[in-house]
Amino acid sequence: MKKIRLGIVGVGGMGRSHAISAKAAKNLEITAICDIKKEVADEVAALYDVPAFYDHHSLFRSGLIDAVLIVTPHYAHTTIAIDAFAAGIHVISDKPVAVHKADAERMLDAWKKSGKKFGVMFQLRTSPANRKFKALLESGELGKITRINWIITTWLRTQKYYDSGDWRASWRGEGGGALLNQCPHQLDLFQWFFGMPNKVRAFCHLGKYHDIEVEDEVTAYMEFADGPTAVFITSTAEYPGTNRLEVTCDRGRLVLEDGVLSFKRTEQNVSEIIAKSPDIFPVLSTWDVNIPVPSNDISATEVLTVFADAILNDKEPLVTGLEAMNELELGNAMLLSSLLKKEVELPLDAAEYERELMKLVAVSRYKK
Ligand SMILES: NC(=O)c1ccc[n+]([C@@H]2O[C@H](COP(=O)([O-])OP(=O)(O)OC[C@H]3O[C@@H](n4cnc5c(N)ncnc54)[C@H](O)[C@@H]3O)[C@@H](O)[C@H]2O)c1
Repeated sequence: MKKIRLGIVGVGGMGRSHAISAKAAKNLEITAICDIKKEVADEVAALYDVPAFYDHHSLFRSGLIDAVLIVTPHYAHTTIAIDAFAAGIHVISDKPVAVHKADAERMLDAWKKSGKKFGVMFQLRTSPANRKFKALLESGELGKITRINWIITTWLRTQKYYDSGDWRASWRGEGGGALLNQCPHQLDLFQWFFGMPNKVRAFCHLGKYHDIEVEDEVTAYMEFADGPTAVFITSTAEYPGTNRLEVTCDRGRLVLEDGVLSFKRTEQNVSEIIAKSPDIFPVLSTWDVNIPVPSNDISATEVLTVFADAILNDKEPLVTGLEAMNELELGNAMLLSSLLKKEVELPLDAAEYERELMKLVAVSRYKK
């Protein structure tokens, strides 16, 4: 079988983990490792017995790779991806695709000119529970969705965590907080499940619980053009955290909590009861439906395998760079709404968000 030759740029915590996942993929092979920290690049390159590079330009000139997996701090996703496309190299970026929508659009421009494949690492898409949840939404079994409520606070982070990388939790180094670092998977699943809202009003607390510049607590309210409303709550300062996605719909309530799916199904449509019931406080019959899910396994190997297959057989990556824009846009819109203290309409004005972000970058404590 022909194998895609993969280079990994950025082999800190997650780059090393993805290297293990890449090693398990049958249709690609790791052929180079790159990190600006020489000792880090050398150490990981030795593990895979491949050459080490200390800047992505020389890696891209080497002729050793067909595709690059970018696992650096977020701002560098944009510059490295644009350089890769210009060098005729396929790109899979770790999440988030970029720090802000305007940067993601720059990446998309470079991608379109290149004719190469552009994927993003959203490995939670491979979870059977998430796939089942999506299938149920699409089955029509639930009736019309009325309200969505996602509380995702399972990320207690200490000051030591934020201090562990000098780029972390600063506007200049990282470009955002819980929305950009911890929540991209959930925001991606949110848009995959429900599509994009058209209005966002959010309240982001910056450095409320930690000595950091960026948001560590968020409450966002969203509206969809066809009626449903949604609340998205996150925090990096709670224990025990909650991960509960609750969807109310015409046929009851579907919940995905900690990987377990449950559906409390009403015998009749709630909208019909509201319109026609002779009672003023009706009590409805419901069935408890437990929905079996084979496992909660999440596979970065699958994301990489599908990406390599997309290159080999001209197919689509599991999550394309284009689709990855949506979750970024949601997070950006929440932050923009909070900064401007007003409702923000989607599609987001990318230039406006970049301007607001750059004001924060200008006073950021982090110096490159
Ligand atoms: N997919 C996931 O579930 C998941 C989980 C955690 C982190 N991540 C993402 O992985 C990325 C890296 O996070 P991390 O926690 O591994 O950070 P990290 O600080 O542990 O590692 C980043 C590495 O990138 C290197 N680096 C920085 N700039 C570089 C450049 N220009 N060229 C080459 N190397 C460079 C650093 O030296 C470091 O070794 C982030 O985008 C983060 O959001 C994804």
